[in-house]
Amino acid sequence: MNELDTLVDNAKAAFAQASAPADLENAKAQFLGKSGRITELMKGMAQLSVEEKKSRGAAINVAKQAIEAALNARRQQLADEELNAQLRAEALDVTLPGRRRVGGGLHPVARAQERIEAIFSSMGFDVADGPEIETDWYSFTSLNNPPNHPARSMQDTFYVDMKDEEGLLLNLRPHTSPMQVRYAQAHAKKYAGQAHMPDIRVIAPGRTYRVDSDATHSPMFHQVEGLWIGENVSFKDLKVMYLDFIRAFFETDALKLRFRPSYFPFTEPSAEIDIMFEHGPLAGRWLEVSGSGQVHPQVVRNMGLDPERYIGFAFGSGIDRLAMLRYGVNDLRLFFDGDLRFLSQFQ
Ligand code: DAH
Repeated sequence: MNELDTLVDNAKAAFAQASAPADLENAKAQFLGKSGRITELMKGMAQLSVEEKKSRGAAINVAKQAIEAALNARRQQLADEELNAQLRAEALDVTLPGRRRVGGGLHPVARAQERIEAIFSSMGFDVADGPEIETDWYSFTSLNNPPNHPARSMQDTFYVDMKDEEGLLLNLRPHTSPMQVRYAQAHAKKYAGQAHMPDIRVIAPGRTYRVDSDATHSPMFHQVEGLWIGENVSFKDLKVMYLDFIRAFFETDALKLRFRPSYFPFTEPSAEIDIMFEHGPLAGRWLEVSGSGQVHPQVVRNMGLDPERYIGFAFGSGIDRLAMLRYGVNDLRLFFDGDLRFLSQFQ
């Protein structure tokens, strides 16, 4: 092997060793640079005769071209490797299955609440929301439960380790009834001093809490409070309105309503509302769905209204109970266990 062939082989070996473009350019300088091996060989021709120069020059040129070709091939190879590495690093496997979005749905209790809101809205009622952590005054005293009166133990209440301005513990509201007073107070304030006050017509649905837990009671449950106060609102209006509501809610006229005398401190007279379906699996049995009554004059006063002028009725219905009856659910706890096998049936 002559010296030029060896040079070409050495160049190829040096280029092959270069693993990055910068190394390759250094290797190139050794062979093709201004003081590289090829330039040296050219300079070495100075003493040769014209004939010798011709053949020697041609041979050196062949070697130079071979080295340049090897350089370009290696450059291309390095560029390809770099591109491939980048493609590998950024690879997207388009054959992976996509992530499925499971269709969600409303909880049956939320569904029942939406129905209730829609029906009462259509009857001209406002829908109001209120605090779940209440003061003693709103949960009890304003609703005509005198302090220390045994009627307070009608509910076993959760208390919060925080005190209100009077130094009394806050409570998790045991019913939505405090919203009667909150809403009516705001309404009365808004129209104070005006000759005419529009009727108060509101429902207030939401979560309520009691120390209670079995197949039909949960420590957290849902109620919807209703209130209609005006200058001439009577029990008759309650009966007509509640019958309309219950028929719309269950989508049937084939049911009866019964008012059964009862006691609540905030109403006088007071009544439980029972319904009876004429058809279906629950037919023929009276089912309790709501407490109700004519708002007690003391409560009207606590609302900031004159009980000689304003009168009306209120009701408090269990949303969970209405949902159980509508969807045929026999254990309240199913609503709150979060079992998808149960919940997905309502989608
Ligand atoms: N707050 C009562 C309860 O939780 C339900 C109730 C009864 C609400 C009569 C009312 C009412 O507005 O008039 O048991």
